[in-house]
Amino acid sequence: MAATDALTLRRPDDWHLHLRDAEILQAVLAHSAHPFARAIVMPNLKPPVTTVAAARAYRARILAALAPGVDFTPLMTAYLCDDTPADELRRGFEEGVFAAAKLYPAGATTHSEFGVTSTARVARALETMQSLGMPLLVHGESTRPEVDVFDREAVFIDDTLQPLLADFPALKVVMEHITTLQAAAFVSADASGRLGATITPQHLMFNRNALFTGGIRPHFYCLPVLKAERHRLALRRVATSGDPRFFLGTDSAPHLRALKEAACGCAGMFNAPSALQCYATVFEEEGALDRLEAFASVHGARFYGLPLNQGTVTLRRQPAMVPQDVRLPGGSAIHPFLGGSTLPWRLEPAAD
Ligand code: DOR
Ligand code: ZN
Repeated sequence: MAATDALTLRRPDDWHLHLRDAEILQAVLAHSAHPFARAIVMPNLKPPVTTVAAARAYRARILAALAPGVDFTPLMTAYLCDDTPADELRRGFEEGVFAAAKLYPAGATTHSEFGVTSTARVARALETMQSLGMPLLVHGESTRPEVDVFDREAVFIDDTLQPLLADFPALKVVMEHITTLQAAAFVSADASGRLGATITPQHLMFNRNALFTGGIRPHFYCLPVLKAERHRLALRRVATSGDPRFFLGTDSAPHLRALKEAACGCAGMFNAPSALQCYATVFEEEGALDRLEAFASVHGARFYGLPLNQGTVTLRRQPAMVPQDVRLPGGSAIHPFLGGSTLPWRLEPAAD
């Protein structure tokens, strides 16, 4: 049978995205707004988005940065702190501003210093979220300094996630950007229907060798860090399995080139320009192109209780190079994930 030459999908959503602010927002937004119809926007700005007012204002800045006529809905999140008032979450959710709240363990990653120091400190907030059906999005890594960087996710599941799920038996939880076979197995084993997981393109495509191929490769550094091959294979199995608990979340996280190519480089890959093409490549390699649409455009919306998108996007089988750099007005640059490489799928521009 001839290989598929064009792939038209129901318009997908990105369930985990960093858009930043100001000139970076302006430079990166278009790369997500086509092809994605909606995105869960991460709140780890400086200062973090902790209030309804801050989320409304950030949403307005995102909408103002869209080109005219582009149909894209940012779904805002609250950055959970030890002292976040439960009523702020309730009000934000009920007023349609907060779609979810994000739990960063304090110190786990970029701009997480105001994050949560222990689940006990946010118990009232979690009870409120549970009663509202408001999802908790979790950066699932242990911050105990003695834990090996490659074990942080597995330790977090045992130390923090399992007890949290037991204490809040009806709380909806998304384990964000899972990277290990332990996380894939943990989510697969859950029978409650309230646990989901997002998976990034980079964790499906690369193992940790990519960080050290011929030298140190800062553009392959993100958190949670890339893992060993057996973990990558486990992620590919669950992502392409058709299991509705697993869905698309790019974790596209732009940083200036100069801040990544540094003695202490920032964590995060700006994968928005090629994310959908990357997922298509992976699903085709796994013989599962027919399951891409469910992963990209159905499972996440169902988890969040949102309607499916009506439009479509088309990928063509035509080698296309990922841009080397996305430029900012002052001349600085953001180097996209796989910038300068060629992928087998090209994204059709948005129809006018
Ligand atoms: O690599 C990452 N970058 N992981 C995160 O958790 C945060 C993100 C960022 O904001 O740069
Ligand atoms: Zn993230």
